[in-house]
Amino acid sequence: MDQTATACKGPVARRSRHLAMSAIKEMSIRCAQVPGAASLAWGLPSFRTPEPIRAAVTTALKEDAKIGMYALPGGLPNLCAAAARAHQRRTAIKVDASTRVMISAGNMEGLQTLFHAIVDPGDEVIVTDPGFVSHISQIEFNGGVPVFWKMDEAGGWDLDVGALPGLIGPRTKAIVLVNPSNPTGAILSERALRCAASVARDNGLLIVIDDPYSHFTYDNRGRFFDLAADPEFADHIAYLFTFSKAYAMSGWRVGYMVVPEWLRAEAVKIHDLTMICTPRISQVAALTALETEPVHLAEFERILDRRRSLICERLDRLPHVFRYVPPQGAYYVFPRIVAAHENAVQFAHDLLDRARVAVTPGSAFGPSGEDHVRLAYCVEDDVIDLAFDRMEAHFGT
Ligand SMILES: Cc1ncc(COP(=O)(O)O)c(C=O)c1O
Repeated sequence: MDQTATACKGPVARRSRHLAMSAIKEMSIRCAQVPGAASLAWGLPSFRTPEPIRAAVTTALKEDAKIGMYALPGGLPNLCAAAARAHQRRTAIKVDASTRVMISAGNMEGLQTLFHAIVDPGDEVIVTDPGFVSHISQIEFNGGVPVFWKMDEAGGWDLDVGALPGLIGPRTKAIVLVNPSNPTGAILSERALRCAASVARDNGLLIVIDDPYSHFTYDNRGRFFDLAADPEFADHIAYLFTFSKAYAMSGWRVGYMVVPEWLRAEAVKIHDLTMICTPRISQVAALTALETEPVHLAEFERILDRRRSLICERLDRLPHVFRYVPPQGAYYVFPRIVAAHENAVQFAHDLLDRARVAVTPGSAFGPSGEDHVRLAYCVEDDVIDLAFDRMEAHFGT
């Protein structure tokens, strides 16, 4: 990626100097300086952490004498066991909690840990293009080279399986998948996922599944294929689940990963070096999340589905500005900009400066994201309406 180097006033390492702030955060920081701006830039759900989780933490604070203490780096044993049971419920695949599960401080930390563990300088990791912006930066930060796998926009942003073998070389270590996708909102097809996983396995690659969004598939649940549940690929998969979105726990910083045994041993060392442990209080919250019937999920999905319809209706009224593939899952839509513009960054900056609407420039998500923007519809309905009222006023209807 073209990373804007920060001005160097001290002994800053090259890898840090060349690291740009994530475009999502950069837009959110800019947006915070524009009073009353309507933001569709950040995928931060409007929901509150469900009450049983908050109540359990309140009790633990009162009654658990160890609540403020370190835990062992791999995670609280009862949480690892609960995560292994959750994984089995989800995939029908049984894993040993003590050798295969690690509790992370969310998928960002989990992924950074995994890339640390598998990427030597010059190694390559295949990412979808467009794909999640931080994967790209994390690979680069670890001295690796992200290899962009262009998605098929005309085919509804599915994987272009035919192109995959040509991207694999002697330095390729892994492939990263997010399904449903951030930023496109696409649900990847079973056929494409199986083909991609076969190619990855046959070439000895680790298949990294970053999973914040699989609970949000709306009327497309029947089309969602859980690659982590396919026993054929189980030994080749690093599966990372985060509580951030499905449990509205983004600020708790907690997730779990189910990985091959060799990788867990490496990951725990690195996680210890970075964190020592995921905060114990967040682990208690996660344990409650896994042990409580997730009745909130239907409500979250119902509200997000309503917002999905709303944003599509509003996009339909701006065909001279955006052309889009209807989103199927997660809570993003990734329209192409058809209005006159210089590039996606300029478009996003102008929109914020002139219309007080924040969006994320698509170019941050990979070269194929140029001339697109990402809109997150996890915010309140009013914010979606305000953003589109302003865009209609700005561009005309
Ligand atoms: C694809 C993807 N991975 C990881 C994350 C971050 O997850 P966490 O909060 O668990 O670090 C996000 C957040 O938006 C995401 O969209």
